[in-house]
Amino acid sequence: MTLIRRAAPDDVQGIAETHVLGWRHGYVGLLPQPVLDGLRPEQRVPRWALAVADADWPRRGALVADDGDGIAGFAHLRPTGDEDAVPATTGEVASFYVRPDTWRRGVGSLLMAAALACFREAGFTTATLWVQEGNERAMAFYARCGFAPDGAAKPDVVGGLEIRELRYRQALT
Ligand SMILES: CC(C)(COP(=O)(O)OP(=O)(O)OC[C@H]1O[C@@H](n2cnc3c(N)ncnc32)[C@H](O)[C@@H]1OP(=O)(O)O)[C@@H](O)C(=O)NCCC(=O)NCCS
Repeated sequence: MTLIRRAAPDDVQGIAETHVLGWRHGYVGLLPQPVLDGLRPEQRVPRWALAVADADWPRRGALVADDGDGIAGFAHLRPTGDEDAVPATTGEVASFYVRPDTWRRGVGSLLMAAALACFREAGFTTATLWVQEGNERAMAFYARCGFAPDGAAKPDVVGGLEIRELRYRQALT
């Protein structure tokens, strides 16, 4: 049984571990392999400790999927920071990762349903997210969750590699 709940300080280590596993398994072929091989959860702990401490529900915070064995996934939610969007009405899924050993068992769907419910509670009318071009797994998942590309794209550099990110969007009714 998987429970979705707001992250607490005790979840930070599990979030950081899930984040690293998500990168290692999800970004093979998309990011340089030495970057993936060099990832360590400890590097991610400060970032997630801050995100958990900085929560301002329901507008901002991290949700976790807890499957009894620990953190099976997490979603970091916040108002958009995009220059062409309105933070009062647009919520962004800033990070979304499911532990690879539980992929394709519905954890992501549960987590996304909770994230969108959170956005509605916050009064957001639109949800957006950015996904790396070529991340077909995530794109298929987001499409299944009701998102579609809105045409916006931006460059980024990860581990020295130039990548392109695409924005996905859905109206919240
Ligand atoms: C994308 C991700 C979050 C999906 O999580 P998940 O728990 O496996 O998703 P679910 O089991 O709820 O899948 C729901 C639906 O999404 C679609 N989907 C999920 N994974 C898919 C895949 N590999 N290929 C095609 N469709 C897929 C399917 O329609 C699936 O329904 P089905 O299994 O009944 O066919 C997970 O694979 C992940 O963490 N990937 C690595 C990190 C990542 O890329 N995050 C996004 C960063 S922008």
